[in-house]
Amino acid sequence: MTANEQLLLVRVPDGQLTPDCFATRHGEVADPGRGELVIRNLLLSIDPAARAWLSQRTYRDQLRPGDVMAGYTLGEVVAENGSGHAIGSLVFADGGWQEYAVLPGSAARTVAPRAELPVELGLLGITGLTAYFGLLRIGRPQPGATVVVSAAAGATGNVVGQLARARECRVIGIAGSAEKGRVLVDELGFDAFVNHRSPTLRDDLRAAAPDGIDIYFDNVGGLVLATVLPMMRTFGRVVCCGAVSEYDTGAGGMAARAIPGLLVTRRLLMQGFLVHDFEDEWADAHDVLAAEYAAGRLVSVHEVLDGLGSAPDALVGLLHGENVGKRMVRIAEMR
Ligand SMILES: NC(=O)c1ccc[n+]([C@@H]2O[C@H](COP(=O)([O-])OP(=O)(O)OC[C@H]3O[C@@H](n4cnc5c(N)ncnc54)[C@H](OP(=O)(O)O)[C@@H]3O)[C@@H](O)[C@H]2O)c1
Repeated sequence: MTANEQLLLVRVPDGQLTPDCFATRHGEVADPGRGELVIRNLLLSIDPAARAWLSQRTYRDQLRPGDVMAGYTLGEVVAENGSGHAIGSLVFADGGWQEYAVLPGSAARTVAPRAELPVELGLLGITGLTAYFGLLRIGRPQPGATVVVSAAAGATGNVVGQLARARECRVIGIAGSAEKGRVLVDELGFDAFVNHRSPTLRDDLRAAAPDGIDIYFDNVGGLVLATVLPMMRTFGRVVCCGAVSEYDTGAGGMAARAIPGLLVTRRLLMQGFLVHDFEDEWADAHDVLAAEYAAGRLVSVHEVLDGLGSAPDALVGLLHGENVGKRMVRIAEMR
């Protein structure tokens, strides 16, 4: 039997997540049943939504104490039993916080790598695809449009900004530190940066977008959304990607009292989406992003922490804004 180190959820946090909500279990890898495969997880994606999966109704089943913590992984197929996946191939799956995952073949998606693995998981993977479909399908950027993106120095936000810049938009990034602002403006070509922790956030944003905002790509909800909305121009689009400001609080979200009137008078489109809505088109979008990356028009911003045991701190830190770009954990090296 092969040993399988796993991280379990042992406690659902009341308020902010802490690393002691997780504990290690040393198990064994089961043989694959009919139609199943065994994945050796290589890279684990660290996503803020993982915090919401612990305590809120989301698009997936809420996790319970005793469950292996959920997370997206890139891994290699090491055994299979009529799963439709070849041994040695690279797959993307909900492989969890563990060394090995045993899953039905239909739960894994083959990846034909076009770049190094961290780039495949982030820029060319679910993160880049989220930015791509949210911005292009809902935001519909036109040259000259003013685009604002929150959590701009994070995984999704930095790609949104880069894609919008490539479409000749004026891009303003909202992030939580001056160093993040420097990365956005100096390294990624954003036109302006606003710090959401500043007491003058509203005035700073007005100064950065004096003529108003055409597209707001919202990764955070809460106070930032409430600040941006009144600055939207007529017929603007608000792309609701996530609400990270509300995931780690244990409290409900803010009231929506003033929003309907604003949507009517400004004729705003405010639309949520899941990247999974576009699964049929992922392969084509992957090709587009890979070509842009190969041509040097898109840059991958990512950070890789080492070892499965670093996952709890990695997630807690992400929720506090520690990360720049896509955060992930290396569980094992490709053989
Ligand atoms: N719809 C979909 O299919 C889909 C798919 C993937 C991700 N998402 C969503 O996209 C959003 C970004 O995810 P990601 O993976 O790219 O994460 P990320 O941006 O890399 O990390 C989260 C960032 O959120 C910021 N943040 C945390 N608390 C905040 C607060 N109270 N106010 C403002 N900013 C705060 C932090 O940066 P600062 O230093 O700037 O505060 C942190 O770095 C999340 O809401 C996620 O759920 C949606």
